[in-house]
Amino acid sequence: MKAIASKKYIDENDKTTAEFFNITKDLLSLEQMKDLDNYIQHLNTSRLQHSINVAYYTYLLCKKFNLDYTSATRGALLHDFYFYDWRIDKPEKGSHVSIHPKLALKTAQSLIELNDIEKDSILNHMWPMTHKMPKYKESMIVSLIDKYCTVLEVFTQFKNRCVQRFRLST
Ligand SMILES: [Fe+2]
Ligand SMILES: [Fe+2]
Repeated sequence: MKAIASKKYIDENDKTTAEFFNITKDLLSLEQMKDLDNYIQHLNTSRLQHSINVAYYTYLLCKKFNLDYTSATRGALLHDFYFYDWRIDKPEKGSHVSIHPKLALKTAQSLIELNDIEKDSILNHMWPMTHKMPKYKESMIVSLIDKYCTVLEVFTQFKNRCVQRFRLST
């Protein structure tokens, strides 16, 4: 397990990633979390990989700024905790942008207890596409890192496709 563009494998025995592993291990062992691997989020990135990407970079940034990185990391890992393919269908009326954070929060709360930072990180991660701005610095970072990882995931896939085409043509 590793985050996109990171050279570090997330491992409980690794000095630099063990803390991230310990913060997230109970969530990553949930069957519902593993199920996220069956959904595509962006191009060839699964929703589980996207969630790990957002959680890992949120962890690094919040730790660097001495914020509540535990809550931010857990909130980030749960920010897209929903189970439908938004390109095909959605279970409720309304736009995908506004309904999936509510569904993610509902699912997460049915399985674990969440604090205010974790709840806000899930519920308002789509800002500014949704109206309510994240209330905490930690949840604002989750929202920003979500966009950063989306760009990274799309760009990486695009770059890989270009490299592949170049190799085939030479
Ligand atoms: Fe989302
Ligand atoms: Fe996301």
